[in-house]
Amino acid sequence: MNANAEDPTELPTAHRVVLLSRDDRLFHVILAQQFDRELIADLCRLAEMLRGIAEARPGAQFLRTLLGHKRAMLYFIQPSTRTFLSFAAACQILGMPYNEVRDPRTSSEHKGETEDDTIRVLSQYFDLIIMRHPGEGFAESMAHMLSRMRRTIPLINGGSGKDQHPTQAMLDIYTLFRSLGQPLNERPKPDFSGNPFEGRTIAFVGDLKRGRTVRSLAYLLCRYPGVRMLFVSPPELQIGEDIIEHIGQQNVEYDTHDDLRAVIGRCDAVYMTRLQDEWDTSGESKSIDYDRYRLTQEMAESFKPGLVIMHPLPRRQEIDKRLDADPRAHYWDQVRNGMWMRAAIIATIFHVDARIIDHYHSYYAR
Ligand code: NCD
Repeated sequence: MNANAEDPTELPTAHRVVLLSRDDRLFHVILAQQFDRELIADLCRLAEMLRGIAEARPGAQFLRTLLGHKRAMLYFIQPSTRTFLSFAAACQILGMPYNEVRDPRTSSEHKGETEDDTIRVLSQYFDLIIMRHPGEGFAESMAHMLSRMRRTIPLINGGSGKDQHPTQAMLDIYTLFRSLGQPLNERPKPDFSGNPFEGRTIAFVGDLKRGRTVRSLAYLLCRYPGVRMLFVSPPELQIGEDIIEHIGQQNVEYDTHDDLRAVIGRCDAVYMTRLQDEWDTSGESKSIDYDRYRLTQEMAESFKPGLVIMHPLPRRQEIDKRLDADPRAHYWDQVRNGMWMRAAIIATIFHVDARIIDHYHSYYAR
């Protein structure tokens, strides 16, 4: 057996993407590279339908009938508020009971069980595992391990170390579709099949080296020709070479900078992030001056009128609180969009997307 056959995570990305799907459909959700434009559009449309259907009681009741026969396990052994709660809410929207493990000290891992065995055991009780884990390739290798089991269940990556956070990237792109170039304070009517990113500049700001949300979103944006990405960070926290290389291969324009003030006037969207100092080995980020990576009220005079301000949260001081009331602030919308997007992803994995679309067209579409 060669090394590749033993470790699918070492295979070329295109091959890994195929291995994560089933019958040409989304199955495990591990990498942002699994989402092409068609799938992004389908999921955004489905998220949009879900939020419409759920508005009234009969619609919400219909949605709860869809996955009442399935059970989900939220295995979150790294801190989480939004990702955990939005997945929990997404399960509830679809009527899917869920359970959680958040502290491995309460599981048999504390008695010396390996994490692999824990995941195998969970796969016998549940129909879906949603996982947040500090290990970079762990979710992916567990997905491949599950695919080799007699009882194979899907696994969703809710944040894998410093590497990827694909469902966050999906809610971020959904938020961008709903806000880029849309009139402020109006109900958006985005064309999810279109390319609102053409000629637009999206700046990523902060700790880009260790921020997994930015890495995943950069992969998604590369699907849209004409987008420009700006990576604004302290030099020691710049985005990884692997992402730069990928962007280069896709012929996407990008630039790196070390001062937000100098570039903010050019941005159509700005994606702020916090210092990811939980990954410090010896307090090395204490000496970093993060002030240049804060969005302040004073900068607002150079904002473009339709600037989209985003943040995956949690926030420290990267965004001046006085900007919270600005109609261009979209970080609270991101939180809610995440719930609908995650429900759309789960519905798609379990093939109930067609039922949602039928229901929508029968009762809601004019
Ligand atoms: C992010 C994460 O966990 O990567 N949070 C989230 O899921 N919204 C960002 C962060 O922790 O800074």
